[in-house]
Amino acid sequence: TLYNVAIVGATGAVGVVMREILEQRKFPVGELYLLASERSAGEEVSFAGKTIQVQDLKDFDFNKVDIGLFSAGGSISREYAPKAAACGCVVIDNTSEFRYDEDIPLVVPEVNPDAIAQYTSRGIIANPNCSTIQMVVALKPIADRIGIERINVCTYQAVSGSGKEAVDELARQTTQLLSGQSPTIEVYPHQIAFNVLPHIDVFQENGYTKEEMKMVWETQKIMGDKSIRVNPTAVRVPVFYGHSEAVHIETKQSFEVSDVRMWLQEAPGVEVLDEPKENQYAQPTVHAAGQDPVFVSRIRRDISHDRGLNLWVVSDNVRKGAALNSVQIAELLIRDYL
Ligand code: A2P
Repeated sequence: TLYNVAIVGATGAVGVVMREILEQRKFPVGELYLLASERSAGEEVSFAGKTIQVQDLKDFDFNKVDIGLFSAGGSISREYAPKAAACGCVVIDNTSEFRYDEDIPLVVPEVNPDAIAQYTSRGIIANPNCSTIQMVVALKPIADRIGIERINVCTYQAVSGSGKEAVDELARQTTQLLSGQSPTIEVYPHQIAFNVLPHIDVFQENGYTKEEMKMVWETQKIMGDKSIRVNPTAVRVPVFYGHSEAVHIETKQSFEVSDVRMWLQEAPGVEVLDEPKENQYAQPTVHAAGQDPVFVSRIRRDISHDRGLNLWVVSDNVRKGAALNSVQIAELLIRDYL
Protein backbone atom coordinates (compact mmCIF):
# COMPACT_ATOMS: atom_id res chain seq x y z
CA THR A 1 0.00 0.00 0.00
CA LEU A 2 1.14 3.54 -0.74
CA TYR A 3 0.22 6.56 1.36
CA ASN A 4 -0.23 10.15 0.25
CA VAL A 5 1.91 12.36 2.46
CA ALA A 6 1.95 16.13 2.93
CA ILE A 7 4.82 18.05 4.51
CA VAL A 8 3.64 21.35 5.97
CA GLY A 9 6.61 23.69 6.26
CA ALA A 10 8.39 21.75 3.52
CA THR A 11 10.94 24.50 2.85
CA GLY A 12 12.02 24.86 6.49
CA ALA A 13 14.96 23.43 8.42
CA VAL A 14 12.92 20.39 9.53
CA GLY A 15 10.65 20.09 6.46
CA VAL A 16 13.56 19.65 4.06
CA VAL A 17 15.00 16.86 6.21
CA MET A 18 11.57 15.20 6.50
CA ARG A 19 11.55 14.88 2.70
CA GLU A 20 15.09 13.47 2.68
CA ILE A 21 14.29 10.93 5.39
CA LEU A 22 11.08 9.74 3.65
CA GLU A 23 13.25 9.03 0.62
CA GLN A 24 16.18 7.49 2.54
CA ARG A 25 13.93 5.15 4.52
CA LYS A 26 11.86 4.28 1.46
CA PHE A 27 8.62 5.25 3.15
CA PRO A 28 5.81 3.99 0.89
CA VAL A 29 4.83 7.40 -0.48
CA GLY A 30 2.15 7.61 -3.17
CA GLU A 31 1.87 11.34 -3.78
CA LEU A 32 4.04 13.77 -1.85
CA TYR A 33 2.62 17.27 -1.32
CA LEU A 34 5.08 19.97 -0.27
CA LEU A 35 3.35 22.88 1.43
CA ALA A 36 4.69 26.22 2.63
CA SER A 37 3.72 29.87 2.54
CA GLU A 38 2.89 31.78 -0.63
CA ARG A 39 6.50 33.06 -0.51
CA SER A 40 7.80 29.67 -1.64
CA ALA A 41 4.84 28.42 -3.68
CA GLY A 42 6.04 27.36 -7.13
CA GLU A 43 9.57 26.42 -6.03
CA GLU A 44 10.66 23.09 -7.50
CA VAL A 45 12.15 20.31 -5.42
CA SER A 46 13.17 16.78 -6.36
CA PHE A 47 11.90 13.69 -4.59
CA ALA A 48 12.55 10.07 -5.57
CA GLY A 49 13.55 11.09 -9.09
CA LYS A 50 10.51 13.33 -9.61
CA THR A 51 10.14 17.11 -9.53
CA ILE A 52 7.53 18.43 -7.13
CA GLN A 53 6.26 22.02 -6.93
CA VAL A 54 5.84 23.60 -3.51
CA GLN A 55 2.21 24.64 -2.99
CA ASP A 56 0.64 27.34 -0.86
CA LEU A 57 -0.81 25.76 2.30
CA LYS A 58 -3.70 28.26 2.26
CA ASP A 59 -5.33 26.79 -0.83
CA PHE A 60 -4.58 23.13 -0.15
CA ASP A 61 -7.24 20.41 0.15
CA PHE A 62 -6.26 17.74 2.71
CA ASN A 63 -8.93 15.27 1.56
CA LYS A 64 -6.41 13.51 -0.68
CA VAL A 65 -3.80 13.11 2.09
CA ASP A 66 -3.32 10.12 4.45
CA ILE A 67 -0.52 11.49 6.63
CA GLY A 68 0.45 15.12 7.28
CA LEU A 69 3.87 15.95 8.74
CA PHE A 70 3.55 19.46 10.21
CA SER A 71 6.55 21.65 11.00
CA ALA A 72 5.63 25.23 10.14
CA GLY A 73 5.19 26.65 13.65
CA GLY A 74 2.56 26.48 16.37
CA SER A 75 0.12 29.00 14.92
CA ILE A 76 0.02 27.16 11.57
CA SER A 77 -0.62 23.84 13.35
CA ARG A 78 -3.32 25.41 15.54
CA GLU A 79 -5.22 26.48 12.44
CA TYR A 80 -4.49 23.73 9.91
CA ALA A 81 -3.92 20.49 11.89
CA PRO A 82 -7.58 20.18 13.02
CA LYS A 83 -8.73 21.04 9.48
CA ALA A 84 -6.50 18.33 8.02
CA ALA A 85 -7.62 15.82 10.66
CA ALA A 86 -11.25 16.57 9.85
CA CYS A 87 -10.47 15.47 6.27
CA GLY A 88 -9.22 12.08 7.54
CA CYS A 89 -5.53 12.98 7.33
CA VAL A 90 -3.55 11.78 10.38
CA VAL A 91 -1.41 14.70 11.53
CA ILE A 92 2.04 14.18 13.07
CA ASP A 93 2.75 17.58 14.53
CA ASN A 94 6.25 18.75 15.30
CA THR A 95 5.19 21.96 17.11
CA SER A 96 4.37 22.33 20.80
CA GLU A 97 0.76 23.29 20.01
CA PHE A 98 -0.96 20.03 21.08
CA ARG A 99 1.72 18.27 23.13
CA TYR A 100 0.18 18.89 26.52
CA ASP A 101 -3.44 18.07 25.64
CA GLU A 102 -4.60 14.99 27.58
CA ASP A 103 -6.16 13.39 24.51
CA ILE A 104 -3.16 13.88 22.20
CA PRO A 105 -0.45 11.18 22.23
CA LEU A 106 3.14 12.43 22.59
CA VAL A 107 5.35 9.76 21.09
CA VAL A 108 8.97 8.63 20.94
CA PRO A 109 8.93 5.23 19.18
CA GLU A 110 11.72 3.76 21.34
CA VAL A 111 9.94 4.80 24.53
CA ASN A 112 6.14 4.79 24.27
CA PRO A 113 5.10 3.41 20.88
CA ASP A 114 1.78 2.13 22.22
CA ALA A 115 0.60 5.68 22.90
CA ILE A 116 0.07 6.05 19.13
CA ALA A 117 -3.22 4.12 19.50
CA GLN A 118 -4.75 7.24 21.03
CA TYR A 119 -4.41 9.09 17.68
CA THR A 120 -8.01 8.23 16.89
CA SER A 121 -9.34 10.72 19.45
CA ARG A 122 -8.37 13.83 17.46
CA GLY A 123 -6.43 12.53 14.48
CA ILE A 124 -3.28 14.24 15.76
CA ILE A 125 -0.05 12.77 17.19
CA ALA A 126 2.45 15.17 18.75
CA ASN A 127 6.20 14.90 18.18
CA PRO A 128 8.07 15.98 21.33
CA ASN A 129 10.65 18.71 21.76
CA CYS A 130 14.10 17.87 20.38
CA SER A 131 15.91 18.08 23.74
CA THR A 132 13.36 15.82 25.40
CA ILE A 133 13.46 13.17 22.67
CA GLN A 134 17.20 12.46 22.85
CA MET A 135 17.16 12.50 26.64
CA VAL A 136 14.30 9.99 27.03
CA VAL A 137 15.76 7.64 24.41
CA ALA A 138 18.92 7.47 26.56
CA LEU A 139 17.07 7.24 29.89
CA LYS A 140 14.39 4.69 28.98
CA PRO A 141 16.63 1.58 29.36
CA ILE A 142 17.72 2.84 32.78
CA ALA A 143 14.22 3.82 33.97
CA ASP A 144 12.88 0.39 32.96
CA ARG A 145 15.42 -1.47 35.11
CA ILE A 146 16.11 0.65 38.18
CA GLY A 147 13.71 3.59 38.04
CA ILE A 148 14.61 7.26 37.90
CA GLU A 149 13.72 9.64 40.72
CA ARG A 150 15.20 12.85 39.48
CA ILE A 151 16.90 14.32 36.40
CA ASN A 152 19.24 17.31 36.41
CA VAL A 153 19.99 18.36 32.85
CA CYS A 154 21.91 21.15 31.14
CA THR A 155 21.62 21.45 27.37
CA TYR A 156 23.96 22.80 24.70
CA GLN A 157 21.57 23.36 21.80
CA ALA A 158 22.31 24.01 18.14
CA VAL A 159 20.84 26.99 16.29
CA SER A 160 19.05 24.79 13.72
CA GLY A 161 16.44 24.19 16.43
CA SER A 162 15.28 27.77 15.80
CA GLY A 163 14.85 27.22 12.05
CA LYS A 164 16.67 28.15 8.90
CA GLU A 165 16.88 31.87 9.73
CA ALA A 166 18.89 31.04 12.84
CA VAL A 167 21.26 28.84 10.84
CA ASP A 168 21.78 31.81 8.49
CA GLU A 169 22.26 34.14 11.46
CA LEU A 170 25.09 32.10 13.00
CA ALA A 171 26.84 31.88 9.61
CA ARG A 172 26.37 35.58 8.92
CA GLN A 173 27.53 36.76 12.35
CA THR A 174 30.59 34.51 12.18
CA THR A 175 31.57 36.01 8.82
CA GLN A 176 30.92 39.54 10.06
CA LEU A 177 33.00 39.08 13.19
CA LEU A 178 35.89 37.45 11.35
CA SER A 179 35.95 40.38 8.91
CA GLY A 180 36.01 43.00 11.62
CA GLN A 181 32.37 44.07 11.31
CA SER A 182 29.86 44.22 14.12
CA PRO A 183 27.29 41.41 14.01
CA THR A 184 23.72 42.16 12.94
CA ILE A 185 21.21 40.68 15.38
CA GLU A 186 17.86 39.41 14.08
CA VAL A 187 16.74 36.04 15.46
CA TYR A 188 18.14 35.88 19.01
CA PRO A 189 18.09 38.75 21.50
CA HIS A 190 21.91 38.76 21.52
CA GLN A 191 24.86 37.77 19.37
CA ILE A 192 25.07 33.95 19.05
CA ALA A 193 28.38 33.61 17.15
CA PHE A 194 31.27 33.04 19.62
CA ASN A 195 28.75 33.32 22.45
CA VAL A 196 26.44 31.24 24.70
CA LEU A 197 22.86 32.18 25.65
CA PRO A 198 21.10 30.65 28.70
CA HIS A 199 17.77 31.40 27.06
CA ILE A 200 15.67 29.24 24.71
CA ASP A 201 12.04 30.11 23.95
CA VAL A 202 10.23 32.54 26.26
CA PHE A 203 10.69 33.09 29.99
CA GLN A 204 7.83 31.84 32.20
CA GLU A 205 6.44 33.22 35.47
CA ASN A 206 8.53 30.70 37.45
CA GLY A 207 11.86 31.96 36.08
CA TYR A 208 12.36 28.96 33.81
CA THR A 209 12.14 29.23 30.03
CA LYS A 210 9.41 27.48 28.06
CA GLU A 211 12.08 25.18 26.54
CA GLU A 212 13.08 24.11 30.06
CA MET A 213 9.47 23.50 31.12
CA LYS A 214 8.89 21.46 27.94
CA MET A 215 11.57 19.07 29.22
CA VAL A 216 9.71 18.71 32.53
CA TRP A 217 6.18 18.25 31.13
CA GLU A 218 7.15 16.09 28.17
CA THR A 219 9.48 13.76 30.06
CA GLN A 220 6.70 13.01 32.56
CA LYS A 221 4.11 12.45 29.82
CA ILE A 222 6.29 10.26 27.56
CA MET A 223 7.70 8.19 30.44
CA GLY A 224 4.17 7.90 31.88
CA ASP A 225 5.50 8.93 35.29
CA LYS A 226 4.21 12.16 36.85
CA SER A 227 6.52 11.66 39.84
CA ILE A 228 9.76 11.95 37.90
CA ARG A 229 11.42 15.26 38.84
CA VAL A 230 13.28 17.22 36.18
CA ASN A 231 15.52 20.24 36.81
CA PRO A 232 16.55 21.71 33.42
CA THR A 233 18.75 24.53 32.17
CA ALA A 234 18.53 25.02 28.40
CA VAL A 235 21.38 26.83 26.67
CA ARG A 236 21.93 27.90 23.06
CA VAL A 237 25.46 27.45 21.72
CA PRO A 238 27.04 28.41 18.38
CA VAL A 239 26.72 24.95 16.80
CA PHE A 240 24.75 24.43 13.57
CA TYR A 241 23.44 20.87 13.98
CA GLY A 242 23.30 18.56 17.03
CA HIS A 243 22.18 19.14 20.59
CA SER A 244 24.38 18.00 23.50
CA GLU A 245 23.17 17.41 27.04
CA ALA A 246 24.90 16.87 30.38
CA VAL A 247 22.37 14.59 32.08
CA HIS A 248 22.66 13.82 35.79
CA ILE A 249 20.16 11.37 37.23
CA GLU A 250 19.29 9.90 40.61
CA THR A 251 17.97 6.38 40.32
CA LYS A 252 15.51 4.53 42.59
CA GLN A 253 17.65 1.41 42.97
CA SER A 254 21.41 1.02 43.22
CA PHE A 255 23.38 0.01 40.12
CA GLU A 256 26.74 -0.96 38.70
CA VAL A 257 28.02 1.41 36.03
CA SER A 258 29.08 -1.59 33.91
CA ASP A 259 25.44 -2.77 33.85
CA VAL A 260 24.17 0.65 32.81
CA ARG A 261 26.73 0.69 29.99
CA MET A 262 25.49 -2.71 28.80
CA TRP A 263 21.81 -1.67 28.92
CA LEU A 264 22.64 1.41 26.86
CA GLN A 265 24.65 -0.63 24.34
CA GLU A 266 21.61 -2.85 23.79
CA ALA A 267 19.05 -0.03 23.70
CA PRO A 268 17.27 0.75 20.42
CA GLY A 269 18.29 4.07 18.89
CA VAL A 270 21.30 4.46 21.19
CA GLU A 271 24.97 4.32 20.26
CA VAL A 272 27.47 4.25 23.10
CA LEU A 273 30.66 6.15 22.24
CA ASP A 274 32.68 6.22 25.43
CA GLU A 275 36.42 5.52 25.37
CA PRO A 276 37.91 8.22 27.57
CA LYS A 277 41.41 6.75 27.36
CA GLU A 278 41.31 7.27 23.60
CA ASN A 279 39.61 10.70 23.88
CA GLN A 280 36.46 9.19 22.37
CA TYR A 281 33.18 10.90 23.27
CA ALA A 282 30.33 12.18 21.10
CA GLN A 283 30.43 15.66 19.65
CA PRO A 284 27.53 17.32 17.82
CA THR A 285 29.32 18.48 14.69
CA VAL A 286 31.69 15.52 14.38
CA HIS A 287 29.39 12.57 15.20
CA ALA A 288 25.74 13.54 15.41
CA ALA A 289 25.09 15.94 12.52
CA GLY A 290 23.39 14.09 9.68
CA GLN A 291 23.17 10.83 11.66
CA ASP A 292 20.30 8.97 13.29
CA PRO A 293 21.50 7.64 16.68
CA VAL A 294 21.33 9.18 20.10
CA PHE A 295 25.00 9.01 21.16
CA VAL A 296 25.80 8.42 24.83
CA SER A 297 29.24 9.15 26.28
CA ARG A 298 30.93 9.93 29.61
CA ILE A 299 28.96 7.21 31.46
CA ARG A 300 30.06 7.46 35.07
CA ARG A 301 28.88 7.45 38.65
CA ASP A 302 28.13 10.77 40.34
CA ILE A 303 30.95 11.10 42.89
CA SER A 304 28.65 13.14 45.14
CA HIS A 305 25.69 10.70 45.23
CA ASP A 306 25.46 6.88 45.63
CA ARG A 307 22.55 6.48 43.27
CA GLY A 308 23.71 9.24 40.94
CA LEU A 309 24.75 8.68 37.32
CA ASN A 310 26.14 11.12 34.77
CA LEU A 311 25.75 10.88 30.99
CA TRP A 312 26.68 13.03 27.99
CA VAL A 313 23.94 12.68 25.37
CA VAL A 314 24.28 14.01 21.80
CA SER A 315 21.97 13.73 18.80
CA ASP A 316 21.02 15.56 15.58
CA ASN A 317 18.17 17.78 16.75
CA VAL A 318 16.73 18.11 13.25
CA ARG A 319 16.77 14.34 12.64
CA LYS A 320 16.01 12.32 15.82
CA GLY A 321 14.87 15.54 17.51
CA ALA A 322 12.30 16.27 14.81
CA ALA A 323 12.11 14.87 11.27
CA LEU A 324 13.32 11.31 11.92
CA ASN A 325 11.16 10.86 15.01
CA SER A 326 8.11 12.04 13.02
CA VAL A 327 8.82 9.61 10.18
CA GLN A 328 9.38 6.76 12.68
CA ILE A 329 5.95 7.56 14.16
CA ALA A 330 4.50 7.44 10.64
CA GLU A 331 6.15 4.04 10.08
CA LEU A 332 4.50 2.60 13.20
CA LEU A 333 1.21 4.23 12.25
CA ILE A 334 1.08 2.50 8.87
CA ARG A 335 2.43 -0.79 10.23
CA ASP A 336 -0.05 -1.12 13.10
CA TYR A 337 -2.99 1.18 12.55
CA LEU A 338 -3.73 2.43 9.01
P1 A2P B 1 8.34 29.54 3.75
O1 A2P B 1 9.70 29.02 3.36
O2 A2P B 1 7.45 29.70 2.56
O3 A2P B 1 8.38 30.74 4.64
P2 A2P B 1 11.83 27.19 9.66
O4 A2P B 1 11.37 26.38 10.85
O5 A2P B 1 13.11 26.71 9.11
O6 A2P B 1 11.81 28.66 9.95
O7 A2P B 1 10.75 26.93 8.52
C1 A2P B 1 9.39 27.24 8.69
C2 A2P B 1 8.56 26.56 7.60
O8 A2P B 1 7.20 26.94 7.81
C3 A2P B 1 8.92 26.99 6.19
O9 A2P B 1 8.70 25.92 5.31
C4 A2P B 1 7.93 28.11 5.94
O10 A2P B 1 7.63 28.34 4.58
C5 A2P B 1 6.71 27.55 6.63
N1 A2P B 1 5.75 28.61 6.93
C6 A2P B 1 5.95 29.71 7.68
N2 A2P B 1 4.85 30.49 7.70
C7 A2P B 1 3.92 29.86 6.95
C8 A2P B 1 2.57 30.13 6.58
N3 A2P B 1 1.96 31.25 6.98
N4 A2P B 1 1.93 29.24 5.80
C9 A2P B 1 2.55 28.12 5.38
N5 A2P B 1 3.82 27.80 5.70
C10 A2P B 1 4.49 28.64 6.48
